[in-house]
Amino acid sequence: MRFPEDVPVLTDGVVTLRAHTADDVEPAYRMCQDPVMQQWTTIPVPYLREHAELFLTELIPSGWRENTMWAWAIEYEGRYAGTVDLRDGDGGVGEVGFAVGPEVRGKGVMPRALRLAVRHAFDGMGWTRVIWRAYVGNYASRRVAWKVGFHGLVTIPGGGNSRGVRKDEWVASVGRDDELEPNGNWWTVPVLENNGIRLRELRETDAQRVQEACGDERTQRWLTGMPSPYTLDDAAGFIASRPAAAASGEAVSWAIADAASDELLGNVSVFDLTNRIDRTKGEIGYWMHPDARGRKVMSTAVEMVIAHAFRPVEEGGLGRRRLVLKCADVNTASAHVAELNGFTLVSTERAADPRRDGSYDNLLTFDLLTTD
Ligand SMILES: CC(C)(COP(=O)(O)OP(=O)(O)OC[C@H]1O[C@@H](n2cnc3c(N)ncnc32)[C@H](O)[C@@H]1OP(=O)(O)O)[C@@H](O)C(=O)NCCC(=O)NCCS
Repeated sequence: MRFPEDVPVLTDGVVTLRAHTADDVEPAYRMCQDPVMQQWTTIPVPYLREHAELFLTELIPSGWRENTMWAWAIEYEGRYAGTVDLRDGDGGVGEVGFAVGPEVRGKGVMPRALRLAVRHAFDGMGWTRVIWRAYVGNYASRRVAWKVGFHGLVTIPGGGNSRGVRKDEWVASVGRDDELEPNGNWWTVPVLENNGIRLRELRETDAQRVQEACGDERTQRWLTGMPSPYTLDDAAGFIASRPAAAASGEAVSWAIADAASDELLGNVSVFDLTNRIDRTKGEIGYWMHPDARGRKVMSTAVEMVIAHAFRPVEEGGLGRRRLVLKCADVNTASAHVAELNGFTLVSTERAADPRRDGSYDNLLTFDLLTTD
């Protein structure tokens, strides 16, 4: 192909993909000074003007000429906003990479640009699959990929290479016959308040309280799956894992906090939201810090969670039809939370809930339907 003559111009009326020009060197150089860019991409650090010149005026043109990389300038409101590129493509499968400057982020520019590039990979270049890769934690990139239909996300430990340092990597892909629209839910964690109780996202600063709550003897007794002893690292790991659980659609977790002090009192989650057989069910799980027990805080928290879980997805809820709650038959405090919230006891599984000493309790299942 000839550069720039054969570079297709792609537009959706708001964002245009076109060939890079020498005028793009300056804004590309400035974009690459951004610490976010340096953190999440493989650009050289420090990033010099000659890096931008080399990439835009030599590597990108030769990519088009030699059929190894197809990079477009992203134009938004008449200006260079960033770059999106396709690479590889052997056998009809290749990768995409992208970035936009800090001043245009959060305006939906990148999803538009990515959709144009992916559509072109399928319809103009005959590809069957496009792969997206990002370092674990790059939620802005993950959200762009999710908006454009990338799915089947997996984490490859050490899969990424950041200037010689291996990092964990997310990989997802989209196929030619897929809709370029979100596949599955990315849940938000709304703030819910009632009766002096606030449900909010968990934060790093909650780690100490989480450790105290989960290391407590009664929590340890009833939640056999919890690490034992439960360390501050376990708490930090739990908190850090929540955004990914929401992003994958699997679970939503809240910190139950005192509305006045915002101190963490406990945790409540709705999980199993991507159940393969029944996509309309959800399971409620919880634990409480020992100093907040016995005040009906959990019953109030679960009441708010039920309302949110039954609200339709279009109205910001979880769109559930059926909620379940499970606990050991001897865990009367937990059974009480279910009963107070109108759940019905529907089954008792015999010797189904393992204790750490090797014994088993009967496991109760309660459920609640939208029609109740
Ligand atoms: C990734 C990038 C291209 C996104 O571009 P953009 O035009 O801002 O994309 P969007 O307008 O869709 O906004 C990003 C979305 O991510 C969300 N987001 C940002 N940071 C987030 C975080 N830490 N957690 C969750 N969501 C986050 C934003 O709220 C926004 O969502 P919304 O539109 O639903 O509100 C841009 O941030 C960038 O250039 N980053 C540096 C380069 C890079 O990381 N490239 C990808 C390498 S794999």
